Amino acid sequence: MNYRHAYHAGNFADVLKHVALVAALGHLARKDSPYCYLDTHAGRGLYPLDAPETQRAGEYRDGVLRLLDAETPPPAVARWLDLVRELGVEDGRLRAYPGSPRFAAACLRPDDRAVLCELEAREADALRAEFRGDARVGVHARDGYEALLALVPPREKRGLVLVDPPYEQTDEFDRLIVSVAGAVKRWPTGVYAIWYPIKHGGASDRFLIRMRATGIRRQLVAELTVKPDDSPLGLNGAGLLFVNPPWQLDAELRSALAWLQPRLAAATARTGGAGANAAATGAAPRGRWRVEWLVPE
Ligand SMILES: C[S@@+](CC[C@H](N)C(=O)[O-])C[C@H]1O[C@@H](n2cnc3c(N)ncnc32)[C@H](O)[C@@H]1O
Repeated sequence: MNYRHAYHAGNFADVLKHVALVAALGHLARKDSPYCYLDTHAGRGLYPLDAPETQRAGEYRDGVLRLLDAETPPPAVARWLDLVRELGVEDGRLRAYPGSPRFAAACLRPDDRAVLCELEAREADALRAEFRGDARVGVHARDGYEALLALVPPREKRGLVLVDPPYEQTDEFDRLIVSVAGAVKRWPTGVYAIWYPIKHGGASDRFLIRMRATGIRRQLVAELTVKPDDSPLGLNGAGLLFVNPPWQLDAELRSALAWLQPRLAAATARTGGAGANAAATGAAPRGRWRVEWLVPE
């Protein structure tokens, strides 16, 4: 396993994922009863921006850094930015970018709970050290897919699962689909958020076709690309597939992505084409965004 999230911390794909995560957890906190957050591929809590990997890749410069001083962002982006500042800014400068465990922990109320799974021993140790002393947070050095099937439904019977693998393995989509389908069978009312990369070649479209074929109801797709879909190299965009998204999260994500996409789009010369479904998608000079139901109620 070679993947190190420190290279990518704070990039446009993290922005999409974490804006949506914070928004979804905000919805769960609208009911008094406690919820459980399960992060199957947790990574670290905090990524210092001066780490050599993070500096070398510099991806955060085209991500979080472009947005930090934005005026009047939409509510979902504003809530995420407040947490970025609270967790990462020191002496007026962004020193570190939080990972999903930190964003989630900042959202937890006293009776809520987080279960963080991370397979890589060094990352799991860092995570454990970071949350020592927070009884609401449990860290498991174990395979996230295996944990997902073993740990749902949680005793709270309410909560959100984030599935955010590195997509290094050729069978990653296969494992993911089998695990999520199994988890939804065991816990049909859970909220699931699955991050996926959008690259040239159509793997993300094939993933969505397969997810639709599972028969799982209430699947919502939120995608944001920063380059044309036919750009041959690297990540053109990212998506989040929600199962059972909280009520009105779709509208909240539409206003967030419409605002984020043009600000995050890379400086590529070519024009990206969006399927211009006026209410639900946005065309932009570079790349596109969409928030659409893959499978309705
Ligand atoms: C994309 S990163 C996670 C980023 C994090 N969720 C965030 O949003 O800040 C993926 C993480 O999964 C870990 N990982 C890889 N395979 C795993 C597996 N089978 N189970 C659990 N963790 C795994 C990697 O070590 C890496 O830290």
